[in-house]
Amino acid sequence: QDSGRYGRQEELGSLHGIPLYKCFVEGWPQVEDFQARPDDLLIATYPKSGTTWLSEILDMIYHDGDVEKCRRDAIFNRVPFLEMKVPEMLTPCPAGVELLEKTPSPRLVKTHLPIQLLPTSFWDKNCKVIYMARNPKDVVISYYYFYQMAKIHPDPGTLNEFLETFMAAGVGLAYGSWYEHVRGWWEKKQEKQLLYLFYEDMKKDPQQEVQKILRFLGKEVAEGTVARILHHTSFQEMRKNPAANYETMPTAFMDHSLSPFLRKGISGDWKNHFTVAQNERFDRHYREHMEGSDLHFQMEV
Ligand code: A3P
Repeated sequence: QDSGRYGRQEELGSLHGIPLYKCFVEGWPQVEDFQARPDDLLIATYPKSGTTWLSEILDMIYHDGDVEKCRRDAIFNRVPFLEMKVPEMLTPCPAGVELLEKTPSPRLVKTHLPIQLLPTSFWDKNCKVIYMARNPKDVVISYYYFYQMAKIHPDPGTLNEFLETFMAAGVGLAYGSWYEHVRGWWEKKQEKQLLYLFYEDMKKDPQQEVQKILRFLGKEVAEGTVARILHHTSFQEMRKNPAANYETMPTAFMDHSLSPFLRKGISGDWKNHFTVAQNERFDRHYREHMEGSDLHFQMEV
């Protein structure tokens, strides 16, 4: 038995050139053939960009702001993770596609796939997509802590080493280049039914962003519902909500004592971690890799 599969992972596999957890790569044939339904709503993000936050907001919208209904199950069961497949010894979760097959419509579907790997059925069925992006400095810090607490990842090394891993986007970075991810989805937004949101905007004015989502979905909600959604999906509320904070995941898979899944929930935490030299190097790399794009990020709010 390959013991590394059930402890910390030694290294990632590769999915069409994108570094990814070996167990996800093994499950890929089922994901590639996934049959979307026209009323599926896809939540797409690069990891650590506010996926869970957006998922909770959408589940609340789908349940007209009924807090109790949104406590019916853990977020990873309410919003299945399309390409997720983990050995049963690590988590009792069924694979994302299995869970999705059993989920009644209208379904919310989570993915971190780069746009070129999204199963074609989502495009064929013309499904709506909400993409959320977050500035890369906060993403890399959040990802660094997540690598430590979620055992599916290889050891991230020191922060300096992980910053290099992030910038190089080589074999050690699950889901590959952040730059290609955010840019790939950004370029598609002209053509498709895609709403592109930013974590920083959501921090600054969550009410405005929730209204944007409602308009995109063509939904109207009763007075007071938006306020209830905003309260229930605040960082403080989600952090103490066992249905949203991932604490029901087995410790063998996620160890919250190393770092909680809902860790800080702010914009600009990178400033507490980057040295001046690291920041300058990161800025240079960022400028080179975002050149020619009209996609801009707020590094703090
Ligand atoms: P930090 O590690 O910076 O705290 P994802 O869900 O994509 O994995 O993203 C996780 C990040 O989103 C974590 O960032 C987490 O704290 C943050 N997050 C989750 N819920 C949030 C909320 N309600 N408000 C603000 N940030 C939230």
